[in-house]
Amino acid sequence: MKIGLLGLGTVGTGVFEIIQKRKQSLQKLYGQPLEITKILVKDKNKKRDLQGVKGLLTTDPYEILNDPSIDLIIEVIGGLEKAYQYIKYALQNEKHVVTANKAVVSLHMKELLDLAQKNQKAFLFEASVGGGIPLLKPLRQCSLLNNFYEVKGIVNGTSNFILTKMTEEGLDFHEALKIAQDLGYAEADPTDDIKGADVARKLAILSSLAFHRDITLGDVLYRSIKHVDREDIHYLKDKGYSVKYFGKALTNGEKVSAVVEPVLFQRITQFEKVKDSFNMVSVKGDNLEELRFYGEGAGKNASANAIVCDVIDIFTGAYKKDFVVLKEQKPKISSQLLQGKYLIRIVLKDSLNSCSFLKLADENEISLQRIEKPSPKRRIFITEKVSAEKIKKFIQDLKHLEFSFFVARIEKE
Ligand code: NDP
Ligand code: HSE
Repeated sequence: MKIGLLGLGTVGTGVFEIIQKRKQSLQKLYGQPLEITKILVKDKNKKRDLQGVKGLLTTDPYEILNDPSIDLIIEVIGGLEKAYQYIKYALQNEKHVVTANKAVVSLHMKELLDLAQKNQKAFLFEASVGGGIPLLKPLRQCSLLNNFYEVKGIVNGTSNFILTKMTEEGLDFHEALKIAQDLGYAEADPTDDIKGADVARKLAILSSLAFHRDITLGDVLYRSIKHVDREDIHYLKDKGYSVKYFGKALTNGEKVSAVVEPVLFQRITQFEKVKDSFNMVSVKGDNLEELRFYGEGAGKNASANAIVCDVIDIFTGAYKKDFVVLKEQKPKISSQLLQGKYLIRIVLKDSLNSCSFLKLADENEISLQRIEKPSPKRRIFITEKVSAEKIKKFIQDLKHLEFSFFVARIEKE
């Protein structure tokens, strides 16, 4: 099997190294060699610490996509437009495709799966969610036997790494982000990791596969993690809680709610124990009451491992056994299915006291249970149970009040 590799950055380098390292054992196991014969990069003259790639590099994608000797394309250039264009072209050209690209999959999964099925080729994207965790393959398999009604988890390594370093080492947000970038966890534009687009994309992919519905990025409600500060982390730690950046999707068969927001977990819970770049995903269904997946969620080797697993499933034909077809009709999207108690922290300004905040809560029909004053200017409120939909509207209104604030749902697990 001849492979065209699109991209030789963090993940592409890992894929090249694993395939080189395992070349002989894979050939022995499967009777045929796996070989990367061409590699697309942006800059051919860039210094690369990698042996054996020099003669394989090209900056022309169509030299790879039109090469009749290439059976399989691995797309790891990232971004949206070009990656989508190349993946679609490859499938139309009857090549198998493996990608780690959540941006493309979370917008075009149905179209690309349908195209792959029409051309009897594979379109696999295990590395797009949960890094190295074998997650999407078992989810696809189990979703054929179960009616899943909930999928949730910590699925962004960068933000989890930042929150861990803030909680355990007292680093500030930007110091921790810089380390995550140096370790290769962050997206090219880390805004996606922090403002929620990355988690939202992964939640769209997970819920589409779990519920067999066409759920795309635009169907997910998401809020940034960046408003949490060191004082919040310190205060919550004292109370026995940690902050996690969390995605949760629910369905009642007709409607789907998919929400990404900061969530508080008590120290005794499994989700609280997910540290650094690790991820954990839980699914609930009718046969399997709950199933959890845990492992390294980002980084070169873990993600490359997931890609090579997809390649092997194509090599052996195993991918044909659990092909998921998404329902034609889009589900109704409503964030009302997701409800919970929320913690709201505000910082008062000289000219503003908490009266205007309380009035706004009242206007939004948000009942507040408890008020604490961890410092002269900070106030903490806990709401009664309320829907994510209502909280979204309340936060929109709150932005006009010029308080700095942080809002997180309290999750029991
Ligand atoms: P990098 O930025 O490290 O690497 C991108 C590679 O693609 C580089 O080799 C670059 O070339 C090449 N490239 C980018 N744009 C073009 C283009 N237009 N034409 C030709 N070549 C191009 O990205 P990552 O490896 O970190 O991520 C790749 C994908 O994998 C993304 O979709 C990401 O979301 C996903 N992913 C990343 C994970 C991680 O931990 N990093 C984990 C799971 C998924 P050059 O080398 O010349 O600059
Ligand atoms: N930037 C992503 C993360 C990479 O931090 O989780 C893995 O998808």
